Amino acid sequence: MQRLTNKVALVTGGNSGIGRAAAHAFAREGAKVVLAARGVDRGHAVVREIKEKGGEAIFVQTDVSKPNQVESLIHKTVERYGRLDCALNNAAAYAGAFSATADFSEEEFDLTIAVDLKGVWLCMKYEIKQMLSQTPSTGVIVNTSSVNGLGGAPLGAIYSAAKSGVLALTKSAAQEYGRQGIRVNALVAGAFQAPMLEWSIEHAAGGDPAEIKKIEEKYAAMISLGRIGRPEEAAEVAVWLCSDAASYVTGHSMIADGGLTAPFR
Ligand SMILES: NC(=O)c1ccc[n+]([C@@H]2O[C@H](COP(=O)([O-])OP(=O)(O)OC[C@H]3O[C@@H](n4cnc5c(N)ncnc54)[C@H](OP(=O)(O)O)[C@@H]3O)[C@@H](O)[C@H]2O)c1
Repeated sequence: MQRLTNKVALVTGGNSGIGRAAAHAFAREGAKVVLAARGVDRGHAVVREIKEKGGEAIFVQTDVSKPNQVESLIHKTVERYGRLDCALNNAAAYAGAFSATADFSEEEFDLTIAVDLKGVWLCMKYEIKQMLSQTPSTGVIVNTSSVNGLGGAPLGAIYSAAKSGVLALTKSAAQEYGRQGIRVNALVAGAFQAPMLEWSIEHAAGGDPAEIKKIEEKYAAMISLGRIGRPEEAAEVAVWLCSDAASYVTGHSMIADGGLTAPFR
């Protein structure tokens, strides 16, 4: 049985990695999917993939750090599919990675916060307004955070700060809008075999394939399940949180990290 039949689902960062996997998963579960990101070719490619499998999707080019573009994204979603039921706010940038706190440039700080924190808030702002306007008001929002948002990370302070902020936004909105039928949760991702992690590992290894393999093995050794996750495994968590099976779950930070942070919790 499909878990999101006739729902309309929005996925930011839907043209790549975890967002792409989530767009596929939402479509497979019966949702009409709106993908948003900046990269047009990759966006259209994911739409084609979904349609080839019999699903329904459109791509809307969007920079989530730009209020007018986010407002227009929600407008286009409703114009095309009539409503908005689920949103995975997942787009993120990783500017200034590998800088210590004192070494970030102001531009790197501003870009990371603009996309990873303000971008999530902007999406929530227009998604919630739409969800409240529906009769009855209803909807589910999932924000992608990171285990870095729980414990911080050396050489990743700004990204971690943004991801902590995403958790606070999530919990605050959950308390504000629960009585109006809107659930808001966070997907707290560990290490997933997706471009952001791949790029970080490649960068740390200086592009050396043998070093990349070593770092991946070191990572896997820290994870209780003994391996880096597949994007589809993060997508499953988002689907579940958006489904009626999670009808009593809100304000929750659901950690999907294969046990990476289990020793510290
Ligand atoms: N992979 C991991 O191990 C891991 C771990 C913890 C958390 N996460 C989180 O998971 C989410 C997805 O990451 P990923 O690993 O799947 O990496 P990814 O493939 O690089 O995904 C990032 C997505 O964000 C989009 N994006 C970046 N800047 C944007 C902007 N200004 N406006 C709109 N879209 C923008 C990118 O598309 P365009 O560049 O085309 O815009 C891309 O689709 C992120 O929130 C990340 O922080 C990932």
